[in-house]
Amino acid sequence: MTGFFRDRTTLTCDGVPIGSLARSAGTPLYVYSAAAIREAYRALDTAFASYPHTIHYALKANSTLAIVRLLQGLGSHADANSGGEIEVALRAGFTPEHIVFTGVGKTHDELVRAVGLGLKAINVESPGELDRIARIAADRGTRARVALRVNPDIDSQTHPYIATGLRESKFGVPIELAAGLFREMASRPSLHLAGIHLHLGSQIVTLDPLRRAAEALVGLARELCDAGIRLEYLDLGGGLGISYDEQPVPSAEDYAASVLPAVRGSGLAVVLEPGRRVVGAAGALVASVVDTKQFPGSRRFVVLDAGMSELIRPALYGAFHRIVPVEPCPGPLEPCDIVGPVCESSDVFGRDRLMPPLEPGDVVALLDAGAYGSAMASNYLRRPLPAEVLVDNGGWQYARRRQTMAEMLGPEEETSL
Ligand code: LLP
Repeated sequence: MTGFFRDRTTLTCDGVPIGSLARSAGTPLYVYSAAAIREAYRALDTAFASYPHTIHYALKANSTLAIVRLLQGLGSHADANSGGEIEVALRAGFTPEHIVFTGVGKTHDELVRAVGLGLKAINVESPGELDRIARIAADRGTRARVALRVNPDIDSQTHPYIATGLRESKFGVPIELAAGLFREMASRPSLHLAGIHLHLGSQIVTLDPLRRAAEALVGLARELCDAGIRLEYLDLGGGLGISYDEQPVPSAEDYAASVLPAVRGSGLAVVLEPGRRVVGAAGALVASVVDTKQFPGSRRFVVLDAGMSELIRPALYGAFHRIVPVEPCPGPLEPCDIVGPVCESSDVFGRDRLMPPLEPGDVVALLDAGAYGSAMASNYLRRPLPAEVLVDNGGWQYARRRQTMAEMLGPEEETSL
């Protein structure tokens, strides 16, 4: 068993007691299981083993260097969504030809850097961006490898904030306009057309939209092939969800079985950009109870030392994360609201959760926080970014130590104001 499980009564990460990690490194604390990351990565890689494929881990889910390095060591390639993520990928050991660069608003400087590096592909979001890339490459006397991001107008049945494949969303080029744009691209000597790309959305747990999106991409590839435009690969994006509530979700094999039949006909290699599926279940946010209160006729509140500044998903999307005490707390279960310390009513991790009588000093874990947890953390209320530890082989190491006030204030103290 990998990840977060109880050894008799104590919650552990791969057998290492979370309570001891919390005592050593303090809370709030992100804890990751290296074994769970390896297992999730390999499950996807194995599911697609029968077909030429490359997994480009989406750094946006978690770009802590130790985790990106771990994935690089497993043979993953990288999907970067900003200039910063490109630099992290390079530092983690990825070579430019293993990096794709996505993102809806790439700046001139980011494009210059991406073209200069010679990435595997820049995933192009619009005709204007294509034009800018072509000019940057022409000015430098080079050819930029590009993949066009198409918007297939398919409902991925996920939270509206993270659905990206609908006509009304800001992403990509409408699929029916793609062929025309490709013909135009083909005539630009500074562009090399490597592939077509789409990303339907995130936390997708129904396979049908992913299958239809793959079919749409294959249809477009055929049309392009008929027009004499030969691609290298189809990029199906990321999006495969995980189970936050212990309900079953499609396995990596189910996913492969739903998209590969369409893709096989194309003869083109497949690129995948999974983020959450690789790291989501492999991380937990560990927090201490700092206060509890209950007044006559009102709800019971359990206040933690972690809040929306460390894990914004519940506040931003109403996302559900299981919250479990790290050590057994004797006593009857009672409904309570588990909240953070931040001055906003949305800073609630869970309402009406049945919990034993937690008291200040008790430690809890918010599970499945490995993706879009630390990556979306902020310094709101001047709270330092939390520490992160990676558990591996029965031991642990800091992946990031807690930010200090001096580090937080450094860029401001440099000024004379
Ligand atoms: N590729 C592209 C172009 C993307 O935009 C994304 C995620 C991915 C790949 C990776 O998707 P994944 O496999 O992780 O679902 N903060 C939100 C999720 C935002 C996802 C944005 N794009 C959350 O916490 O649920």
